Amino acid sequence: MTAQDILGNIAIIKGEGRSRAEKLKQADRLLKIPSVRTVLEKIGNVKGRLRTINVRFVAGEKNLIAKHRENSCMFKFDVSSCYFSQRLSNERKEIALKVRKKDKVLVMFAGVGVYPIVIWKIKKPVRIVGIEIGRDCCKYFKENLKLNKISSEEIEIIQGDVKKKMPKEKFDAVVMARPNLKESFLKQGLSVCKKNSKIFYYGFCNVNEKKKMTEDLKIEADKLKRKIKILRVVKAGDIAPYKFRYRVEIKVLK
Ligand SMILES: C[S@@+](CC[C@H](N)C(=O)[O-])C[C@H]1O[C@@H](n2cnc3c(N)ncnc32)[C@H](O)[C@@H]1O
Repeated sequence: MTAQDILGNIAIIKGEGRSRAEKLKQADRLLKIPSVRTVLEKIGNVKGRLRTINVRFVAGEKNLIAKHRENSCMFKFDVSSCYFSQRLSNERKEIALKVRKKDKVLVMFAGVGVYPIVIWKIKKPVRIVGIEIGRDCCKYFKENLKLNKISSEEIEIIQGDVKKKMPKEKFDAVVMARPNLKESFLKQGLSVCKKNSKIFYYGFCNVNEKKKMTEDLKIEADKLKRKIKILRVVKAGDIAPYKFRYRVEIKVLK
């Protein structure tokens, strides 16, 4: 996290290693921004399968529900129970621009529906499905469809584990907005791909491990008796010093 994250009405500041007076001073400054009503501090890092953060109240209104605008879409979510990174806003737009109108799109690890909704608003492809395990995320995903005047036919939500609840149909584009965890979930991603499907896979590694990451994906695909071609690897965000989020664009050959 940089100095602060501003998610519409909620600002989240760095908590650890700072005095109460220091945090209150920053909160005072933030509460002068017209949209900001609440200042919370983040304790520790993003954690667990749901990729949530621990937050503590600092100043303003006591509230955990953010209302945040991104890419001309509105998102509502609980900052303590749902993952959200506003730093991915440009990335989401780029993906939406890469999807074609005629595509059936699956977003794995859909969170509160940010990728599906931004893709829908920008491209309106023939079909979008989002799959997400978090109960709270799915609750807000549903609410966010309403907030953005999108019907459940236009974007279908599947609540569940990608290991158990993957759709049976095939998709032209699969966005794997993966959590930064060990498992690649490539097996699940490939299970809904046909020849020429595209996968937008997110991987996390050091600069010098980039080649290994893509080689490992090819080996894994081989083991699954599938064939993939790595089209492009693009930096899509910072994780830590020398560690990045990479978008790996994959074409499924078999
Ligand atoms: C890094 S977040 C991405 C969320 C969202 N796509 C976004 O960009 O804001 C990863 C999401 O994957 C979900 N998740 C983790 N493991 C999962 C699984 N096995 N099946 C389905 N969803 C999972 C988490 O709950 C979390 O919301």
